[in-house]
Amino acid sequence: MPLVSMKRLMNHALANKYAVGYFEAWNMDSILAVVDAAEMTNSPVIIGFGGQFIGSMKRTIKENIYHYGSLGKSIAENAKVPVALLLNEAHDIAMLINGLKAGFNAIMYEDHGISLNELIDINKYLVRTAHYCGADVEAEIGELPNADISTGSISQGRKTDPDEAAYFVEETCIDALAVSVGNVHLLENKKSDLDFELIKILRKKIKVPLVLHGGTGILPENLKEAIKLGMCKINVGTILKRGYLKSIQSYLNDHEVDMMDPHDIIGRGGELDMLSGARESVADEVVKFIKIFGCENMAHLI
Ligand code: 13P
Repeated sequence: MPLVSMKRLMNHALANKYAVGYFEAWNMDSILAVVDAAEMTNSPVIIGFGGQFIGSMKRTIKENIYHYGSLGKSIAENAKVPVALLLNEAHDIAMLINGLKAGFNAIMYEDHGISLNELIDINKYLVRTAHYCGADVEAEIGELPNADISTGSISQGRKTDPDEAAYFVEETCIDALAVSVGNVHLLENKKSDLDFELIKILRKKIKVPLVLHGGTGILPENLKEAIKLGMCKINVGTILKRGYLKSIQSYLNDHEVDMMDPHDIIGRGGELDMLSGARESVADEVVKFIKIFGCENMAHLI
């Protein structure tokens, strides 16, 4: 089926008191795993890639956003459930514009080092361009803290100010607002403390759908409460990569790979395929979140 707009998926979720998941992929296995999970549960889903990872300064091989957009669009259009395709949290405006050309139908710019006025100007430009292409724009006001598992530290962050957020939405005409309400990006070893009072205030003040990032570090009961209070899109990333890694690690522990046919390990897709197993582990994790989000069996209603 053709790509479905992220706005349409979020509005359906809001009206029916559930949340649609954005599950961040990084390669073909992982993006297919997300769609596997959505099809298994008959759920709408938002698939996509993280612009900050594709465009990371640490990359030793430069990536081309066209490959990611074309791959995502083809997978979305061949899915049996409604799918939107998001280029998430890119720090690079040119990447976002090229992403729209490549087929993404939702984009999000992120930069915490600029002023509110600069952020407004950039988002106005992105909204004009994206809406012209029939795509949606998400933006963030406030700043999510980032956890760093290697040091155990969590950065400062800044909670979303409701007045600033309302002004930003009014000025830019964005389609969805990501908020900082105690949620933390990349949090694996503990759980974040959500500020439910702030969510209630934001829901009353902000006219567009609200988005909760940092799904990995939020307890299921807190996710459910946040959805009850009006969060209608939830982003999940780190836990999917962790599951993929663990699956590969346990495969390598359990098999004498030097004594096996490499085509059985990679590429044939049989019982012994290491990457098929890793793909299944990502799909299993996504299914768990879809059930928590109340999104199961919503596909045919859209
Ligand atoms: P986690 O990696 O913490 O789940 O957050 C993902 C996210 O918010 C992507 O935008």
